Amino acid sequence: MSDLAIFPLTDEHKMLRDAARDFAQNEIVPVAADFDESGEFPHATIKKMGGMGFMGIEVPEAYGGAGMDSLAYVLALEEICKADAAHGVIMSVNNSLYCHGILKFGTEEQKKKFIEPIASGKAIGAYSLTEPMSGSDAGTMKSRATRDGDFYILNGRKSWVTSGPVADYLVVFMMTDPEKKQKGVSAFLLETKDLAGFIRGKKEPKLGIRASATSELIFDNCRVPASSLLGKEGEGFKIAMTVLDAGRIGIASQALGIAEAAYEAARSYATQREAFGQPIGAFQGTGFKLADMKTRIEATRLLIYNAALAKERSKTTGERYSQEAAMAKLFASETAMFVTHQAVQIHGGMGYSKELPVERYFRDAKITEIYEGTSEIQRLVISRAELGFK
Ligand code: CAA
Repeated sequence: MSDLAIFPLTDEHKMLRDAARDFAQNEIVPVAADFDESGEFPHATIKKMGGMGFMGIEVPEAYGGAGMDSLAYVLALEEICKADAAHGVIMSVNNSLYCHGILKFGTEEQKKKFIEPIASGKAIGAYSLTEPMSGSDAGTMKSRATRDGDFYILNGRKSWVTSGPVADYLVVFMMTDPEKKQKGVSAFLLETKDLAGFIRGKKEPKLGIRASATSELIFDNCRVPASSLLGKEGEGFKIAMTVLDAGRIGIASQALGIAEAAYEAARSYATQREAFGQPIGAFQGTGFKLADMKTRIEATRLLIYNAALAKERSKTTGERYSQEAAMAKLFASETAMFVTHQAVQIHGGMGYSKELPVERYFRDAKITEIYEGTSEIQRLVISRAELGFK
């Protein structure tokens, strides 16, 4: 299909998208199944992606990034995720959950120190909000940061941290004043190297995106300078939510990439595989499935580009784009589940086999309905924006 007419892409967008596509197809596709099988972190390809500017697409060049816009980011991420969603989530966390928040809320000093290594691909960043007993209800976290002169003492257990086992830098959210609930949360920026009292906990064995590393992080009387505070004390919940708005557009793009890969595999199989004397795509039962898959994919793309443009506008107006981001993520992740489910079905037994990547797409799609806010949380954000109730 040609580019969507209502979202005209510049030559720069197309060049970036093509570069991401070439890289993804030539460098990631050949290794994706092996990394999925072993569950190893793909350090080498991630480093190369950093070298190509994919780890800080919207980060200004002055801080080591590519200095491009929000649409450029989703275009590149979609291509990477079409090849492998595990590489994609590492890219998404570095760009959105990590760099975006520091760019928006960090001091000049923090931007210089904490963004450049990630945006240039020399190091890995992570974002740590969730706890064993605090997921969707993020305002109920138990981890504590206690002020002690020019330091904070961090204590607590964080869970489900993408890139937790390998992160060189970390944005972590902790309660500084539990009585104030959401208004008592603060954000901290940490370098993990030689950080006393910082322990990487158990690595999660996962259904999908297996090459991305996910773990608990434990803070045991971890003493950090007060200058580690990102934004103001008590501003952490707002920072966490603002960053998740950006992150959700990234996960929507991840879901789109997975759905497209599954769709293309199913379409190709439907033209080649024959049954009852004709290609299975010639049966309406298969053709109509492909029609629904394609239609949902294109609708997803519109929602994602719309959310990306809203995010771009927000850089000058400061307006929130929470609803656009939530709608894009909700629809994209449910599309990825629908499309991968149908793609497995169209492939029959071969869809269930590890000889083809379709079963991996199916496993990878599920997480997009869960992390960075479940589909239920997206519906909550959308309905609250519509109705004004809380
Ligand atoms: N932007 C800016 N401010 C926001 C905001 C946003 N998107 N959302 C809420 N706020 C502000 C509100 O305006 C409010 O401030 P005021 O009182 O000054 O108006 C304050 O934050 C509290 O908001 P709510 O009362 O709406 O908060 P809540 O407790 O009801 O929670 C929620 C709202 C939407 C359910 C939120 O808790 C949420 O998004 N939960 C899901 C968390 C999530 O997505 N976790 C995923 C973690 S990351 C991950 O998945 C792992 C990974 O590494 C990839």
